Amino acid sequence: MRILVTGGAGFIGSNFLNCYLPSYPEHTFINLDALTYAANLINLKGVAARPNYRFERGDISDYSRVREIFEQHDPDLVVHFAAESHVDRSIVGPADFVRTNITGTFNLLEVCRGMWGRKEGKLFHQVSTDEVYGSLGPSGLFAETSPYAPSSPYSASKAAGDHLVRAYAHTYGLPVTITNCSNNYGPFQFPEKLIPLIIINALEGRPLPVYGLGENVRDWLFVEDHCAAIWAVIHRGKRGETYNIGGANEWRNIDIVHRICDVLGEETQTNPDIYKKLITFVQDRPGHDLRYAIDDLKIKRELGWQPNETFATGLRKTIRWYLDNQSWVESVKTGDYRKWMEQNYRERLTG
Ligand code: NAD
Ligand code: TYD
Repeated sequence: MRILVTGGAGFIGSNFLNCYLPSYPEHTFINLDALTYAANLINLKGVAARPNYRFERGDISDYSRVREIFEQHDPDLVVHFAAESHVDRSIVGPADFVRTNITGTFNLLEVCRGMWGRKEGKLFHQVSTDEVYGSLGPSGLFAETSPYAPSSPYSASKAAGDHLVRAYAHTYGLPVTITNCSNNYGPFQFPEKLIPLIIINALEGRPLPVYGLGENVRDWLFVEDHCAAIWAVIHRGKRGETYNIGGANEWRNIDIVHRICDVLGEETQTNPDIYKKLITFVQDRPGHDLRYAIDDLKIKRELGWQPNETFATGLRKTIRWYLDNQSWVESVKTGDYRKWMEQNYRERLTG
């Protein structure tokens, strides 16, 4: 198989390539990535020299570039990770989210439709998020049948991408699958997201910013478990279907931050209170979704998937990884990262 992975230099895409590319030398993996601020080719240093890896720099919002890459590599399978992925950035600047997550997805679908038609053995897999379902109250779970009700520009743009994928399946018979996953954590996550941000700030003695009262709840899944679920869906999932993926692992943000401080304390032999003293409640995110939680019965029952990591093992592995990979951490602290930290937190910290 020739597998086109979009966004393979980002957090989940690079974990996916690191997990599956070495074990499947018979498949060629083509990584199409624009290398935005969120990408890091260092994530792929373990696989980049392998003969079944190809890299194409390209922007999925550029139709002719996408078409050119398809013509050159003739993929059988597209695993579509590429996206603008950070809710806070979508609030400050939604245009890039519309361009990449909607137009980019549309371009990929159009090229697949043109090149594949109804040929057998092809598949477009859309990697999506549980945030398309909107926010839950204190109880309940998102099922595959839950209505879409996105609340941020990020989730609205992902929802639009998902709708286009479904429409191409329905209208043109394009073979597709979709997964909607809960919050991921693990190695190579850009430190604009909660877990790596807290780890890195704690190690630097900087404030640990908790939005609002820290009572918002997310369902956390170790990234390799997400990749295994995607692998199961692309190989054994029913064409045209959606599968929810989650960790059955709900945490309030404030409790996660405490837990990170505790594990970090153990791993660095430091009194965790030194880290906890850095916790700073800051101005909330506008339109902040209260709670996400996933009903993942379908993927468990139909495909036999289940997570390998508990939160205890996954979080410790993640914290250990950030401690052991200081050069990676330094490599992502570019001008863009510093600018974002300054821009997002200056007002929150003072306001
Ligand atoms: P990320 O921000 O870490 O990486 C995104 C990658 O896409 C980067 O390598 C970037 O360079 C690339 N990219 C962005 N715009 C592009 C464009 N126009 N053309 C080509 N490449 C482009 O994102 P992530 O956290 O790895 O998320 C990957 C996918 O998984 C996204 O579709 C996201 O919506 C979805 N998802 C993420 C989570 C999570 O917790 N991170 C949870 C569920 C679903
Ligand atoms: P994040 O990692 O940005 O993922 P998402 O918004 O896609 O769920 O945020 C996870 C939760 O943590 C979310 O409720 C917002 C909160 N949060 C903070 O409290 N402080 C922070 O500095 C960040 C980045 C997020």
